[in-house]
Amino acid sequence: MSIGPPNGPLSRILDELHARFGPTTDGQVASYIPELASADPTLFGLALTTMDGFGYASGAAATEFTIQSVSKPFVYALALADRGMDEVLSRVGVEPTGDAFNAITLEPDTGRPLNPMVNAGALLVSSLVDGATAADRFERIRGWLSAFAGRELRVDEKVFRSEQLTGDRNRAIAYLMRNAGALSGDVDEICSVYFRQCAVMVTCEDLATMAATLANGGVNPLTRRRVLSDELVGRVLTVMTTCGMYDHAGEWMLRVGVPAKSGVAGGICAVLPGQLGIGTFSPALDATGHSVRGVLACNELSTRFGLHLL
Ligand code: DON
Repeated sequence: MSIGPPNGPLSRILDELHARFGPTTDGQVASYIPELASADPTLFGLALTTMDGFGYASGAAATEFTIQSVSKPFVYALALADRGMDEVLSRVGVEPTGDAFNAITLEPDTGRPLNPMVNAGALLVSSLVDGATAADRFERIRGWLSAFAGRELRVDEKVFRSEQLTGDRNRAIAYLMRNAGALSGDVDEICSVYFRQCAVMVTCEDLATMAATLANGGVNPLTRRRVLSDELVGRVLTVMTTCGMYDHAGEWMLRVGVPAKSGVAGGICAVLPGQLGIGTFSPALDATGHSVRGVLACNELSTRFGLHLL
């Protein structure tokens, strides 16, 4: 399982993966958020951060893109820290759905979303974050994601507005949850905080560091700051393992075998506990909404280094 010394051949291997999977023409950029449709589908970045704070990168590793659903496990962690596991579990389940990320599937009768990684659950989780106002809640989320990345993250206002203008499906899910008594509060405000959370800009190096913070038991290996308790890291990684890759979660665990989360702007973060964090970025997505090059690269990294946890 060991990946070798920090100054080993990792950079060369990332370059090799970049050269190997860069030319693929498979996949499509997301267009249901209109602003994402203008992304260059050929962009491809790869990054690793190790527990001792070494970073390795190849390709478009410094290109910023919106975090989208990769924010979900981190904001779930914040809600767990704010509210405790029992309260959060009573509001949002943890069962894998086998459905798409934007499925309008809720528990019958209660309207409880099935897990925090699908949009329904993430909207509810975002509403559970402490804060006197929606702006306070968002600022806590932004600060929290920044602590994982080890730098101040900002919002892509264009992407935020684009989703705000077109995100009727998420608003519909939120109204259904509120109608069933599962969600409380102002739906427009809750959706705005969630859309803003999704529009936070990161690079794949940031995702590698955010993943490495989880891999390192909650201590950011660059800043050496504890962001999350060891106990909550375990909870978050559990949900990432079972639900992080939506209707591809089973195949992902079979092939790659580490907890991960993807986003529709093309990011993937994957966590190898005790060893490293992986961040990839490439906007062309497969049918289940995962970055084509990111999945190929993670598969190959896992095979080559024997990263599979089980
Ligand atoms: O709510 C949405 O649809 C987007 N803001 C995020 C979805 C997403 O990233 C799904 N992941 N692959």
